[in-house]
Amino acid sequence: MSFAITNPLRLGLRQEKVIAPQCLVIFGATGDLTHRKLVPALFELFNQRRLPSEFAILGCARRGWSDEEFQQKMYQALGARASENPIAWDQFKACLFYQSLDLQNLGDVRKLKDRLEEIDRLRATHGNRTFYLSVSPDFYSCGCKALAAEGLLDDPKRSRLVIEKPFGRDFGSAQALNRIVQSCANESQVFRIDHYLGKETVQNILVLRFANAIFEPIWNRNYISSVQITAAETVGVEDRAGYYESSGALRDMVQNHLTQMLSLTAMEPPGHFDPEAIRNEKAKVLQAARLADDFEPWNCCVRGQYSKGGNHLSPLVGYREEPGVNPNSTTETYVAMKLFIDNWRWQGVPFYVRTGKRLAKRLSEVVLTFREAPVHLFDAVGGSPTSNQLILRIQPNEGAEFRFDVKSPGSGMRSRPVEMEFSYEESFGEPSDEGYVRLLADAMLGDPTLFTRSDEVEAAWRLYTPLLELIEESPWLLPINSYESRTWGPAAADALLASDGLLWRRP
Ligand code: BG6
Repeated sequence: MSFAITNPLRLGLRQEKVIAPQCLVIFGATGDLTHRKLVPALFELFNQRRLPSEFAILGCARRGWSDEEFQQKMYQALGARASENPIAWDQFKACLFYQSLDLQNLGDVRKLKDRLEEIDRLRATHGNRTFYLSVSPDFYSCGCKALAAEGLLDDPKRSRLVIEKPFGRDFGSAQALNRIVQSCANESQVFRIDHYLGKETVQNILVLRFANAIFEPIWNRNYISSVQITAAETVGVEDRAGYYESSGALRDMVQNHLTQMLSLTAMEPPGHFDPEAIRNEKAKVLQAARLADDFEPWNCCVRGQYSKGGNHLSPLVGYREEPGVNPNSTTETYVAMKLFIDNWRWQGVPFYVRTGKRLAKRLSEVVLTFREAPVHLFDAVGGSPTSNQLILRIQPNEGAEFRFDVKSPGSGMRSRPVEMEFSYEESFGEPSDEGYVRLLADAMLGDPTLFTRSDEVEAAWRLYTPLLELIEESPWLLPINSYESRTWGPAAADALLASDGLLWRRP
């Protein structure tokens, strides 16, 4: 039985696959992610007419809500999107059901099975199900085991399992979790989510590289001198101290989102555009990646933590003053590091990766800096010649730009840099969908291309485990450098690049 057909007539220019009748079960339905991301993304899919009419969403959590209470909460979560669109909301509401359940209680999971059969009859969902684990990672193993014990994962064609990040805390725990998950379901049923892969501009890294013949010949150590990957946020830890204190920026952002940007930037061209071919290449490049200094990793990594900042009108508290944070916390809210990829394409090219909260600007980007011209024939305006750069802007202002030198107007022959720009919004006139819209649709379609395979997730953890162990065992070797809120991070991160004669890009 096939679950995906293409129906170009239904959606005009966008050629979207049609999602088969099914029930989406969200574990953790009372949580923040369901309110902020999942249900809004599902409502968006509904409004784009991408959900089949035989569809249901079953929210599950421990709280004893009724269907009506769940519907009411989701109405509130959608805000104006629902209140200004009452007809759509009424139809969408009919898909929403709720089941109070404790994943650790087998009796509850048995009841879930009965409820799903009832929903199959009511909504004609044909026993086709996507289970979304949006619960604390502590419940991933027991959740998978309970679903498997009730036979709910038996049919690989009709049951899928979506698992939120973090998938493990280090290499060992990710491996152990993979073993459990794979004892409950086939790898083809498992969708490890990383919402960065749902971003249009992250996917565009692949199209830019592999749909244009001009880039591939220069996309290597002969032409590229360094790569910078940044995910900077202006927000602080907000109300997530409980989670963040035991995670920190390395686990929260680097192991997943930044590493995904790195693997798409650095991977070899796949033979075909199919999920396994792409994920093979992503896994391979991560297996070739290493910390720039394997023996003394503290030389290639900087950790930081935001201190207070802002101004007298909107003062910002430091991380240690945030509610729920230990006043002596040594959790990092900033990480910068240098990596190498030991393969023919990238040998010797440094990849600098940084992320932080409460930085000066919200921005995610990949910057490829090309080697300088071998001979400088022209004086440069500003003194020193600049290198060509290709900047892939992931967010905001999604797009790409290429920096190159032109003649500065006037007498003489002086060069100065200019930018050639591509902006998604200008070119396509519509903002791109939220990452979760794409990823939820793909999971329900059973398309794993944009999800992390078990070997990828393990390779990513393996790469950072020496740093995680160092932080655990000898934290003084990787001390926390304080940085003022709304600046570009600690001075030590600048020094990391300065020692290679480079600067971080500060757009
Ligand atoms: C999440 C992290 O995965 O990504 C958050 O847990 C972070 O700490 C968020 O704020 C950033 O996502 P985005 O899409 O806003 O860049």
